[in-house]
Amino acid sequence: MTMLLKRLRYIIALLSSMTILLVLYFQNSATLSFYSFVRKPKSHICLEDRGNSSWFSERYKPTVPLLLNSTNSELHANIFSWWKELQDVPNVTNYTEVVNQLFSLFPDEEHYSDAGPDRCRTCAVVGNSGNLLGSNYGQLIDSHDFVIRINKGPTEDYEKDVGNKTTHRILYPESAVDLNDNTHLVLLPIKVLDMQWLISAFTTKNITQTYTEVPSTIKASKDKVMILHPEFMRYVHDNWAEGHGRYPSTGFLALIFTLHICDKVNVFGFGANSNRNWHHYFDETLTSFESSSHGGDFENQTIYQLHQENKISMYKGLT
Ligand code: C5P
Repeated sequence: MTMLLKRLRYIIALLSSMTILLVLYFQNSATLSFYSFVRKPKSHICLEDRGNSSWFSERYKPTVPLLLNSTNSELHANIFSWWKELQDVPNVTNYTEVVNQLFSLFPDEEHYSDAGPDRCRTCAVVGNSGNLLGSNYGQLIDSHDFVIRINKGPTEDYEKDVGNKTTHRILYPESAVDLNDNTHLVLLPIKVLDMQWLISAFTTKNITQTYTEVPSTIKASKDKVMILHPEFMRYVHDNWAEGHGRYPSTGFLALIFTLHICDKVNVFGFGANSNRNWHHYFDETLTSFESSSHGGDFENQTIYQLHQENKISMYKGLT
């Protein structure tokens, strides 16, 4: 009888400790999953680990200045001389004066310094390739937090394939179009005159000519203007285009810019036609890789490699 009692006590003790252990285990894992849900609500779609590819790490420099402001505007001598060479007039003497004018007019801020494990910003960068026609990507493109468009690429009449949301548009005076109030105008400054045009477009409106006729003004929100940093342009040229072409294409700069300010990057509207021409979804313009100042082939290979390394996702449309 005592033996039976002893066994019974032993079994009860065993069952109780197992119950306690199970309760503790489930409580703990519930807390953990709740905690990770709170910390990283969308982590499943974000590419947080940027260090897991040596190809990528060799090229990606997280500290490069992306956008110009009055604090970071002084250029290293080698960057300034490379950037000056891109201009029709290499003897640039008024850079500092123009930058001062820029930031008395436009926001003088440090933008997008919020990268970190808790951020999950999804972005669509939309090039102007003809492969967008018939793609039906419109809704998908518009579902991103940021939609970055380039130069003249229109949305009106092409909504089904390209969407209609635009949070950023990267352009230069010769490719300028009017923007709506909630779009950031991101200037790609290839010359100091481009910065002067931006100032003029919002003030005196007296610059109407660069190497070609340019609009004297632009419909855009002054408070949303941003200017790409010349050091960023040089970084993309050196690290990502590996010196191919004279300087990177607007689309390639936009793509690498997006990689720096976003956590999940989806790429639409990039890719030449079968004759290695850059064709557009909205007009008949054809630019051959050979005649352009950009390293088109090499840029495309790099974009493909970024896709292979799982740092971007390419949507190729109807190729
Ligand atoms: O022709 P545009 O420069 O306005 O096009 C914007 C960008 O889209 C280009 O700089 C290029 O990077 C990309 N593009 C492309 N394939 C095309 C047309 C444009 O990759 N067929």
